[in-house]
Amino acid sequence: MAVPPNIRDTLVDIRAYSDGRIYDAYKWLRANDPLGTVEAEGYDRFRVVTRHADVMEISRQNDLFTNGPQSILFTQAEIERNLQQSGGVTVKSLIQMDAPEHGIYRDMTAHWFRPANLKLLEDRVRELARRAVDRMAASGGRCDFVNEIALHYPLLVIMAILGLPEEDEPLMLQLTQGLFGAADPDDLVDGVPPPQERDRTALFTMMAYFNKLTEDRRANPTGDLASLIANAKVDGQPIDPLTTMGYYIIVATAGHDTTSSSTGGAMWALAENPAELAKLKADPKLIGPMIEEAIRWTSPVKHFMRTATQDTEVNGQAIAKGDWLMLCYASANRDEAMFADPDAFRIDRKPNRHVAFGNGGHLCLGQALARMEMKILFEELLPRLESVELDGDPKMSAATFVNGPIRLPIRYVMN
Ligand code: HEM
Repeated sequence: MAVPPNIRDTLVDIRAYSDGRIYDAYKWLRANDPLGTVEAEGYDRFRVVTRHADVMEISRQNDLFTNGPQSILFTQAEIERNLQQSGGVTVKSLIQMDAPEHGIYRDMTAHWFRPANLKLLEDRVRELARRAVDRMAASGGRCDFVNEIALHYPLLVIMAILGLPEEDEPLMLQLTQGLFGAADPDDLVDGVPPPQERDRTALFTMMAYFNKLTEDRRANPTGDLASLIANAKVDGQPIDPLTTMGYYIIVATAGHDTTSSSTGGAMWALAENPAELAKLKADPKLIGPMIEEAIRWTSPVKHFMRTATQDTEVNGQAIAKGDWLMLCYASANRDEAMFADPDAFRIDRKPNRHVAFGNGGHLCLGQALARMEMKILFEELLPRLESVELDGDPKMSAATFVNGPIRLPIRYVMN
């Protein structure tokens, strides 16, 4: 049986992700239809997976539930429009790949993202964090934390690991936002973002930028991640240009909006919960757990899709070969069967087995980086932050895929 129309409509309404209605729909689904079937106009039929245990179970079985052929929820019209806008060029990244290809390409850079390697970048990241904190201090006690801090700092970190010059930040910001930036709910026309010319040009500009980077790093390799990608070989051959491009693009985009959203979410939650802020300031060892809680609470990646390769069963319910499944991480992370008082932001939540980074073979490659950069930012900020509160209404972006705060006005006292 299909899920009721009001729940179906909420699931595919990007405004529901902005005004929070999505959480009521998730709650209803967890309680009443945790693997419900959705038949929404314009979309292929899909199953919506809302319980923590089921998201974990499906994610860990990568042969039974593949990422191909379509790993993000789009309407058929959106798929066609995207293809048209890219002139028929399909850039493939890790997230669209399955075994055996996926393992080969993931192994290429996996060592780079391990904590031991990231440690070598810590000084540079700390320098960027200090600058962000100084900028906050210089703002005279008020700022829009998202637009002045949370949007820039993670991008500068990603650019540092790729080895891109800092002066390219405005261009990269324009390109990553043009390609993947989530919509402002106030800009929607009939519930959808207006078509943007810059979307069309962003992909080509980004491709030209990264092609030049590949040429440069092949001629003059350095120790950065771009050099590793540009000079990588599979079966003794350089990887093809579109896959090389897919790698740069996934690093530049997956590493940006996600971490911006969880960083903004952390500040939002602290500004709303002075008791939690006081606890944190009294015991800096809680910064790590606070970061985990902010990532759970914001769950910036709302879903990825999987396709069943065989008839099977999950949690006693039949799944048919070909079923397209929406893994709702943000629902799993508010599952009352897993988390006590799941809507509350508790910096010392223990245990905190959230699934915001996914699970199984596609588990977020950048999770250690995301944790490290958020931790360093708050390590630098908290000793200087005496108090913080909201200074107006925050605003969440409107998107079914990656979303988070796009405006966060705060008022604060810093030393
Ligand atoms: C994959 C979340 C930060 C790079 C993923 C997935 C999720 C996710 C849910 C899919 C996992 C799955 O299918 O099981 C997040 C969140 C972040 C974050 C919530 C921040 C709070 C980053 C950063 C990078 C990154 C900083 C750095 C480059 C990637 C890549 C993949 C991925 C390359 C694809 C992995 C694969 O398919 O094998 N991320 N991510 N992410 N993420 Fe992240």
